[in-house]
Amino acid sequence: MTRVSFPADFLWGTATAAHQVEGNNVNNDNWLMEHMPDTIFTEPSGDACDHYHRYPGDIALLAELGFNLYRFSIEWARVEPEDGEFSLAELDHYRRMLATCHEHHITPMVTFHHFTSPRWVAAQGGWEAETTPAKFARYCERTTRHLGDLIGAACTINEANIGPLLTNSGFMPPPEVMQQAPWWSAAAKALGIAPHEFVPFIMATSTRARDTIMEAHRRAVQAIKSVRDFPVGITLALQDVQATTGGEAQANRVRYDLNDSFLEAVRGDDFVGVQTYSRHRIGPNGSLPPEEGVEVTEMGYEFWPEALEATIREAAAVARIPIIVTENGLGSRDDTRREEYIRRAVRGVANCLKDGIDVRGYTYWSALDNFEWMMGYRPTFGLIAVDRSTQQRAVKPSARLLGDIARANAIDF
Ligand code: GCO
Repeated sequence: MTRVSFPADFLWGTATAAHQVEGNNVNNDNWLMEHMPDTIFTEPSGDACDHYHRYPGDIALLAELGFNLYRFSIEWARVEPEDGEFSLAELDHYRRMLATCHEHHITPMVTFHHFTSPRWVAAQGGWEAETTPAKFARYCERTTRHLGDLIGAACTINEANIGPLLTNSGFMPPPEVMQQAPWWSAAAKALGIAPHEFVPFIMATSTRARDTIMEAHRRAVQAIKSVRDFPVGITLALQDVQATTGGEAQANRVRYDLNDSFLEAVRGDDFVGVQTYSRHRIGPNGSLPPEEGVEVTEMGYEFWPEALEATIREAAAVARIPIIVTENGLGSRDDTRREEYIRRAVRGVANCLKDGIDVRGYTYWSALDNFEWMMGYRPTFGLIAVDRSTQQRAVKPSARLLGDIARANAIDF
């Protein structure tokens, strides 16, 4: 057995996102979509994990397990429920969350936008509206003024490339198709806009949306830095794009469009958040289904923990800035598979460090079993199980495994 140690200040964390765990985020565009008749969301988010009220116990548990980083998101729709109207009570809520992290010697990393947007932002044209970058920056600045002294690091936007990725990999129909659906028109109507004007973040795929998102990021970085100087970056959903024979040209194109063009755009930032779950194989006729004989996860994609090492290397080579793994994980009922996944993924991180790549942390998605967007509560990514009828938490063995690695700051192979 060999023991591989990590750098002294290495961050070991878990992540959540407000809408997936807090519960009752009624004022955002996702809640609206969840409640339209015949929506593609399999169930509404409801109380989620009631993390909004239960965060003290959840954060204490993460600390007890051995983690020194907690990544969570601030819900824009709570902090700024109407255009220009900020809620001090909600800002104070997040202040208490940050303080709780510090009490437990956990570095808090906040995400300012994790997929959901206030309804009023959606009503103004969402992620294709010219006004959105400035409004997002204003919210980031206001929030940083109130919370900045307690923030350890921040992600402006979670997975800037998620829209193109979801449509490209066949997870979601393209917007033209989606806009025809009655539930979509109903959502747009509720906001007082036309179907083509409804641009929720995870469904934002156009070039205009991409420009809006990256502009929002740049302005947010400036706004945050004008108040305080903690590390700020953006996160990207990166698949390990692999070509099978004859698929090289297509794979190169997809890799550039979905990964590298975004990685080029974040050069100069303090870090980039790498979020990787699997690989994406491409043949001469496009995307390929899971390879025969390869285990498939609850999400329908391949169990492929080695994708993390490949994408860290790619991100380092293209973006040339420090890397934090801000998400990596497995949806599975079989926790022994999660343990295997974590061991192999962490090994990949160790390989990168050995080669001198500047990786600052590893964050597992997710702390809790939670609301997996369109798929509802069926996929279970958590290190901690949640019984949603009682809100009881149950620590899974994988939580102990990763917590022990975190505490030792080392892994034995
Ligand atoms: C994402 C999001 C998370 C997901 C996770 C599991 O990557 O899509 O950041 O909100 O829940 O990735 O699919």
